[in-house]
Amino acid sequence: MPANGRAVSIHDLAECKRHGRRFAVVTAYDYTTARILDAAAIPVLLVGDSLGMLMLGYPSTLPVSMEEMLHHARAVARGAPTRLLVGDMPFDAYHASDAEAVHNAAAFLKAGMNAVKVEGGGRIVALVRLLVERGIPVMGHLGLTPQFVNALGGMRVQGRSGEDRRRILDDALALQDAGAFSLVLEGVPRDLAAEVTAALRIPTIGIGAGPDCDAQVLVVHDLLGLTQDPMPKFVRSYGSLGDQAKEALTAFATDVAAGSFPDDAHSYH
Ligand code: KIV
Repeated sequence: MPANGRAVSIHDLAECKRHGRRFAVVTAYDYTTARILDAAAIPVLLVGDSLGMLMLGYPSTLPVSMEEMLHHARAVARGAPTRLLVGDMPFDAYHASDAEAVHNAAAFLKAGMNAVKVEGGGRIVALVRLLVERGIPVMGHLGLTPQFVNALGGMRVQGRSGEDRRRILDDALALQDAGAFSLVLEGVPRDLAAEVTAALRIPTIGIGAGPDCDAQVLVVHDLLGLTQDPMPKFVRSYGSLGDQAKEALTAFATDVAAGSFPDDAHSYH
């Protein structure tokens, strides 16, 4: 990855794959967090539609609109302008027509993103080809694709049967051929992720897909322990910021109630 302040590009990710160098991807939804992720030298930030649950309190990613995504994308772009920024196309932004999909993907680039992510294989492959032809880099996403939660019958690991494995591998190869520059593999068995990773020239980015992918992505709230919700098996929390925040806020309220904040040192004279 560039160490001289140069912006991270999709070619840097291709280099990582060629040289067997793993890299981290983290979701980002706001300016302040983007600055922290930038300072931590996280090369790729994903403005994921998971912001629907984490920032907006929706029950799933399905209600998230383009307008909401762009609002958060612009904030992240202001916070980490030299990282590779990927905007997640929300559920209803790319299925109605190619024209609408191109328009919405272009809106992400205008908002400061460098690429977009779309979920699924099959008929999505043709859309990926179209977007890439229009100069819009695309990250694919296969396996447990949350926008398909109703069709999948719940948030469950994908690719356990022989037929499913074959389909995921075929879709992965088709997305690569269509020009996708990387591929998220979510909620698939470790050995399938390893097989797909070995079969592709483009980097795979795992989440709940085991350690054999070329990169790993986690949701920033999960990674930092910001939420009090039970974590899925594949998450490792590297902090407990939620507990720390609760402690700090309780201490503030206690000091205010006791009259010990503000004290003279925090007052103007
Ligand atoms: O929306 C999101 O956060 C994602 C990642 C978890 C891959 O799609």
